[in-house]
Amino acid sequence: MGRAYKLKGQKRKNKDEKYDREEMAEPSKRVKTDVSGSDSEKEEKLAGDMPGIPIAPLDTGSNKQRVIFVLEKASLEIAKVGKAYQLLSSDEHATFLAKNKRNPADYRPDIAFQAIQTILDSRVNKSGRLKALYVRTQQGLLLEIKPHARLPRTYKRFSGLMVQLLQKLHITATGNGEKLLRLVKNPVTQYLPTNSRKIGFSHSSEKLIDMHNYVGKFNEELDLVFVLGAMSHGKIDEDYVEDYISISEYPLSAAYAISIITNAVERKLKIL
Ligand SMILES: C[S@@+](CC[C@H](N)C(=O)[O-])C[C@H]1O[C@@H](n2cnc3c(N)ncnc32)[C@H](O)[C@@H]1O
Repeated sequence: MGRAYKLKGQKRKNKDEKYDREEMAEPSKRVKTDVSGSDSEKEEKLAGDMPGIPIAPLDTGSNKQRVIFVLEKASLEIAKVGKAYQLLSSDEHATFLAKNKRNPADYRPDIAFQAIQTILDSRVNKSGRLKALYVRTQQGLLLEIKPHARLPRTYKRFSGLMVQLLQKLHITATGNGEKLLRLVKNPVTQYLPTNSRKIGFSHSSEKLIDMHNYVGKFNEELDLVFVLGAMSHGKIDEDYVEDYISISEYPLSAAYAISIITNAVERKLKIL
């Protein structure tokens, strides 16, 4: 296991001190970390349980209008808590976060978990219209998730997978070794088709629209990029977004907002 990194401003006092027992990781600074040598039984079990993840059969024959999702500000941060690296969450790490003067409201990986599930489960994805899914973490790491990746359905296994991903920098498929999840270089704009409309979603946008009417007006040759926040508070404000819209007069969860979007696209493209 690679060693942990200290929090900014903290000094390592004594090499015999247990300085690395509870430190926040800085995944962007850690290059490859060998998880196989972990001293944590829990982590080893998760790694052993997930040598690779399966792929889902998708209809990928379509070359018509495609959809890309970008989830911004996702709370996916790992840290060494006790002996093992863990995905930080306000539910599980309240004491650790308080000790490190972190705001628990910033640690909600369940929001990204639900949002990713909703996107991958959608008929948009099953019909082959989901071209890509990117997740940018609060720390600015950019993750690419292949549309045919079959992610764990329980939060516990998802969090184990994220720990692996943020340490190893990719997760491969069982069988062919394809990288189904991987860290990629910023900015996300380099992966977005030029012939696409980049649409941002925010409850605070003054442009309140009916999503079905909105997607209906786009020419089918144009790919649609949907950008949502995967955080609990605040709003997204990305330079590459061309239009910010609100799809309900109520503040919605990211997952529910995504289901409104995918339903609208499915109705427009007559995907049943
Ligand atoms: C949990 S919410 C974030 C909460 C934040 N206070 C807000 O309202 O944007 C997650 C994401 O869902 C999307 N969202 C939530 N309600 C929305 C609405 N009424 N219209 C459009 N997007 C919405 C936004 O992209 C938001 O960043």
